[in-house]
Amino acid sequence: MDQDRWTAVDRYVEGLLAPHDAALDASLEASEEAGLPAIQVSPPQGKLLHLLAKSIGATAILEFGTLGGYSTIWLARALPDDGHLITLEADSAYAAVAAANIERAGLGDVVDLRVGVALDTLPELADEDAGPFDLTFIDADKEHSPEYFAWALDRSRPGGLIVADNVVRAGELADEQSADPKIRAQRRLHEMLAAEPRVEATTIQTVGGKGYDGFAIALVV
Ligand SMILES: C[S@@+](CC[C@H](N)C(=O)[O-])C[C@H]1O[C@@H](n2cnc3c(N)ncnc32)[C@H](O)[C@@H]1O
Repeated sequence: MDQDRWTAVDRYVEGLLAPHDAALDASLEASEEAGLPAIQVSPPQGKLLHLLAKSIGATAILEFGTLGGYSTIWLARALPDDGHLITLEADSAYAAVAAANIERAGLGDVVDLRVGVALDTLPELADEDAGPFDLTFIDADKEHSPEYFAWALDRSRPGGLIVADNVVRAGELADEQSADPKIRAQRRLHEMLAAEPRVEATTIQTVGGKGYDGFAIALVV
């Protein structure tokens, strides 16, 4: 098994089950033109996020890491008319591309895009009494995934989901000797998930167009 095979299967699944419409296509084209890194979720992963949000009837979503708004669009499309999504992005140039992509997708009224380092934005959201959230997607700077999880958990409703991306990191998650801060953070996140009585969680390894990685998924009980 190799990367070419994983990419081919992702394309097959995308073609049948997660096809792009004009707005999703345009979001990736605009992101590429603006020089954003192509580190968004894959189409099948975007569809997974969409299905998870729909399956719990999510009306309030929090996202860490907007990039060009690709996952934002998948998630926001799962919301009912009165739903809303707050997405946090540190890079103002990326956020400008995302804002245009989100607007083009007709989601400008649904999505609240906050520009700034998430750890600085979170106290503002707390002051505004933001939440409770039905679904949180953690996909920003991986060193802070545990802090984002802790913040989101305190503002999640029972029955809600917290999903963290890129937790497996080509298998390095299993390396207890790793000095890489991103790996150490994912291991700390897993220790939190194991010890936290308010969630039931698991991690699923994934392969696909984005290589070998995985999602942690926590159900707030
Ligand atoms: C993997 S990308 C997000 C991809 C996006 N969720 C998608 O799938 O379409 C990570 C994003 O997090 C942003 N980011 C990095 N550090 C951040 C921080 N401290 N606060 C908020 N956003 C941050 C990066 O600029 C980048 O756009």
